[in-house]
Amino acid sequence: MVSGAGSGRPPVIPLARPVLGESEARALTEVLDSGWLVQGEQVRQFEGLLSARLDGVGCVACSSGTAALQLAIACLQLSPGSRIAVPAYTFAGPLNAVLLAGMEAVLVDVEPETFKIRADSLLELLDEPKPPAALIIIHQFGLPADLQPLLEPARTGGVAIIEDAACALGSHLQLNGKQVAAGTVGDLGCFSFHPRKLITTGEGGAVVSRQQQLAERAALLRNHGIVRDEQGLTSYAEAGWNFRLSELHAALGVIQMDRLDGILRDRQDVAKRYLSALAPLQEFGLQLPQVPDGRHGNWQSFVVRVPDRLGAKAVAAKLRQRQIGSTPAAQALHLQPAYKNVECWGGSLDGAALCGRTGLALPTPPQMSDQQIDQVTEALQAILS
Ligand SMILES: Cc1ncc(COP(=O)(O)O)c(C=O)c1O
Repeated sequence: MVSGAGSGRPPVIPLARPVLGESEARALTEVLDSGWLVQGEQVRQFEGLLSARLDGVGCVACSSGTAALQLAIACLQLSPGSRIAVPAYTFAGPLNAVLLAGMEAVLVDVEPETFKIRADSLLELLDEPKPPAALIIIHQFGLPADLQPLLEPARTGGVAIIEDAACALGSHLQLNGKQVAAGTVGDLGCFSFHPRKLITTGEGGAVVSRQQQLAERAALLRNHGIVRDEQGLTSYAEAGWNFRLSELHAALGVIQMDRLDGILRDRQDVAKRYLSALAPLQEFGLQLPQVPDGRHGNWQSFVVRVPDRLGAKAVAAKLRQRQIGSTPAAQALHLQPAYKNVECWGGSLDGAALCGRTGLALPTPPQMSDQQIDQVTEALQAILS
């Protein structure tokens, strides 16, 4: 269902596949039988399960990860034209959300070894006479970013932090010696439940916050800005969107939450086997993903860097010929036509450009066999050597 790059025969080893079964089919039928399709018991249950998983934060389910980011930005009530820092190497959703909110984006470079936004560049930016009003910190591919050095300077400067945890449900990072769930540290956290994520609702997302007024505002803006009085009569407190998650989508989410621990174990296992099988290919210039101490990623994607002389697009095409799904993992956004006028912090964003050329997501279908891992390894060895 999720295809890799290029064309030709469909991959025998798909890039990814959601884990779905009978329980999801039953849950959908039950919602249809109930006749209640929007903003009901399933959405409430899904939000409750997410909140329980995320240390009790306020959870507002919505229609996509990008909608979650739009809500998060709107919740901050920044003046139009405020600057918001975004990593230069990522999916376009966070940057689009910033630009479409009427804000000024500042693209910041990433570390090629870990794909995360450069904390040193952000600290320089926070020291500027006109620092950004907010930072979007992405837990890229589920690998937790480095929030610890940013929290105090951001707090002191009154700069908000939005964690883009679209890929990071189940990931943890270390903060003041404690493991905390990715998405729960900043002022707001955003999740996606697109089919490439660990659990899926088809399309879907959630905004979370420990600050009750922010979570309440996200709930208000998700539903046209409607408030109801005790009689159930509606009035509009302010202009909002329809970013609701349907009951059908939420019912999938309720079942999927039950699967999360199993999926997390499966991804850890695949990552461990990939790391060991691919280690000898470092000799041919393959760079393996690095997880710094104290972080526990969910391995939403297993992203390697192929040698620059080959490039991720070409390697993906060659894997595709061997019926192996893979894809360039994300884009260097400053090199995309849509964003040519966006400010680049520090001028050239070499780390992001390198990741854009060389970052490749390898297939991680559920319960990948040793044989499939060997197939990918052998194919990569043949392409790289
Ligand atoms: C880092 C990041 N942020 C945001 C999104 C947007 O999520 P959605 O596709 O649910 O809108 C994605 C989607 O892949 C993503 O990878």
